[in-house]
Amino acid sequence: MKLPRAVRLVEVGPRDGLQNEKAMVPTDVKVALIDMLSDAGMPAIEATSFVSPKWVPQMADAADVMARIRRKPGVRYPVLTPNMKGFEDARAAGADEVAVFVAATEAFSKRNINCSIDESLARAAPIFEAARATNIRVRGYISVVLGCPYEGDVDPSQVARVAARLHAMGAYEVSLGDTIGTGTAGKTQALLRCVAEHVPIAALAGHFHDTYGQALANLYAALELGVATFDCSVAGLGGCPYAKGATGNVASEDVLYLLDGLGIETGVDMTKLRRAGRYISDHLQRAPVSRVARALDARKPLDAPA
Ligand code: HMG
Ligand code: MG
Repeated sequence: MKLPRAVRLVEVGPRDGLQNEKAMVPTDVKVALIDMLSDAGMPAIEATSFVSPKWVPQMADAADVMARIRRKPGVRYPVLTPNMKGFEDARAAGADEVAVFVAATEAFSKRNINCSIDESLARAAPIFEAARATNIRVRGYISVVLGCPYEGDVDPSQVARVAARLHAMGAYEVSLGDTIGTGTAGKTQALLRCVAEHVPIAALAGHFHDTYGQALANLYAALELGVATFDCSVAGLGGCPYAKGATGNVASEDVLYLLDGLGIETGVDMTKLRRAGRYISDHLQRAPVSRVARALDARKPLDAPA
């Protein structure tokens, strides 16, 4: 079994992590978090989303966030865009990469974006077209790939069908979202084998929420099949407002510990990443969800002399 030599991490804490927070997080705190994550070496940071503020109030300051971050050369700052309004606003804010998001089930699609899967793909079509004309990269997300809070089990061939369509439309990468974290390592591999018949493994990413404590195992299972891009959330922040009980993505610190241990390159610095996690956790007045961050804090606190 040959694991990838290097992995690209996509830090989604500022978006997927914060979108579920009830109390508004000040724009300055979001900006400081994003800048700490780029300093830590994250190659891609999902900064915010250009969605309806009525649906997700926490992301209402998207344009301000984009205006104030210190863009580090070489780092990507993708943003979510559900429709052309979102795309136009994102473009005006200087986004160089957007992400469209669709679901593997009709029920989740309706709850999350208020339309069917076909309608969501039709809404995405002009985004792909406009993005092509303006040199903006488009990433595609599929939610509930390993289980749906409304429909239960999800047929891998249904995920493969949606993934194939996103890829054919021009998504450079399709991120497979286990939104409610019910996936297991075996199911993850079965899903990937099925999807890989339609989309090259190199164009797939894993997006594992850790609700059932399976995210790291699922990530390793995906690594074994050659997936080399993973979404993660600093301090394990997050959840999805339209998936009740869903907890955060796999913690970035935990993923980094796993990959460092395997000798897989990421370019991310653990101490700086822990500082970013501490910063946002202090703001939210809770301990980081990351087991690795807590264990390292107990052994060698961040503020201890070197
Ligand atoms: P709708 O109500 O069906 O759409 O919402 P609408 O076109 O009738 O618009 C309603 C209002 O929103 C209008 O304002 C629009 O102008 C405005 P009003 O006339 O009432 O004043 N509006 C917008 N405002 C700002 N930016 C926009 C925008 N679009 C419309 N882009 C819509 C449809 C898609 C807009 C809505 O359902 C929505 O915004 N949903 C967002 C859901 C969301 O953000 N979910 C979380 C992200 S996905 C996720 O977390 C999963 C992921 O992590 C992977 C995984 O884990 O599975 C990616
Ligand atoms: Mg998510």
